[in-house]
Amino acid sequence: MLLGAPNSGKGTQAGRLAARLGVPTISTGEMLRGAVADGAELGRKVKDVMEAGRLVDDGLMAEVVGSRLERDDARRGFLLDGYPRTLGQAKDFERMLGDLREKLDAVVLLEVPAETLVQRALGRGRTDDREEVARERLRVYRQATEPLVDYYRKCGLLRAVDGDQPVAAVTERILAALNGAGAA
Ligand code: AP5
Repeated sequence: MLLGAPNSGKGTQAGRLAARLGVPTISTGEMLRGAVADGAELGRKVKDVMEAGRLVDDGLMAEVVGSRLERDDARRGFLLDGYPRTLGQAKDFERMLGDLREKLDAVVLLEVPAETLVQRALGRGRTDDREEVARERLRVYRQATEPLVDYYRKCGLLRAVDGDQPVAAVTERILAALNGAGAA
């Protein structure tokens, strides 16, 4: 699982790591943006919340992730990008893994200074990248998601990696931190 603030590089690294580890990436942000773009019912439910930089509710996210994990390609492991991001989602995810008789191997935390995060958002141009929304996403991360850092540290699963390095160097540091642990 990749954990980190908005714009810490989770999506960038997920794509690179999935290719190296031979497992699919499950990115909740990508899935939700796809649903918005398709005009799907899920997209209509989440569009305003996403554009405001807030979090979609835990119950809806459990449905989205639960049905994704049932697909065949997730049977041999997967890399999670953007889920869980509340303590409630962490508990939901543990239940899902229990049902699948799977376990979480490692949680990689990408550490990047706050001002770098906002600068990266401004350089990209997604609809939730406007400066005030980027700052709101960071505030929501600090409030709702950061408690997961201690949670997974106490479980012995956390691997902190300096994400304020060139993209390829971050990938190598993550692989070194995993140290053969594989993907979830
Ligand atoms: P999501 O898509 O997950 O957004 P996020 O966590 O805010 O993350 P980002 O995609 O902005 O950043 P990232 O860490 O993936 O960085 P990236 O690689 O793109 O979620 C979007 C929204 O969906 C949420 O706000 C919420 O509303 C909803 N949502 C999703 N999951 C949810 C959940 N579980 N529960 C509830 N709601 C949920 O990189 C960012 C930029 O930096 C890029 O331009 C990239 O090129 C650049 N960059 C990356 N790495 C480097 C580097 N090493 N050096 C320089 N630049 C870099």
